[in-house]
Amino acid sequence: MTFIRTEPPGPASYQGPPEAMAFDLYGTLVDTASVAPACERAFQGRGADLSCLWRAKQLEYTWLLNSMGEYLDFWEVSRRALEFTCRSLGLPQDPRAERTAMEALFELAPFPDAAPALAQLSGREVPLAVLSNGTVRMVERAIESAGLAGMLGPVLSVDAVRAYKPDPRVYRMAAERIGLPPERIAFVSGNAWDAAGAASSGLRTVWVNRSGGPPEGIGGAASEEVSSLTDLAAALWGRGN
Ligand code: LAC
Repeated sequence: MTFIRTEPPGPASYQGPPEAMAFDLYGTLVDTASVAPACERAFQGRGADLSCLWRAKQLEYTWLLNSMGEYLDFWEVSRRALEFTCRSLGLPQDPRAERTAMEALFELAPFPDAAPALAQLSGREVPLAVLSNGTVRMVERAIESAGLAGMLGPVLSVDAVRAYKPDPRVYRMAAERIGLPPERIAFVSGNAWDAAGAASSGLRTVWVNRSGGPPEGIGGAASEEVSSLTDLAAALWGRGN
């Protein structure tokens, strides 16, 4: 059984307060750029380049796997993306350095607005799920290390459908697991393409546009846009509620 309405893409029609929320992890609650110091320790002088290219390749591989109808879990995708990035930068193979970089994925820094926003939202008594490309183990370790563990749950991973965002099966799975129609769940992402995918799959979507960039030109439109996670409560429940 599915509650999903995939047409037409665009803001969901239900605009009352959400009955659940689901957060993207990487780039929304934790900062993927925070791997840079570990990359610098592992590959001296190349940490900044490596960390940017690695993240881009990691996402590209998820989209390529989706297109090919294949699946490798996010740990393996990240490992292969790192190996490729090292080769493309002409770095010699160094399993110890690669391990250091990979383990940094478990210890990403939270965005400074994450804990205050989650504390604020906990008073709303709605589930605050995580919906991530990461495996459950990766997500649990990252939120633990970021000091957010007691504030979030359940953890939903794309592993359950063996496809990556923005495949609609991912967002449908979240609605099914949470047990609500998609438009009653506010999905929050700092990744414009993830917001476009979630909105296209019928989730009510809040785009956290920290950099003030433009929205994607394809996919669905977020129904709300905020510049900080601490604006979520006001955006979804209204000021003073
Ligand atoms: C995640 C990706 C979008 O956490 O970074 O699912």
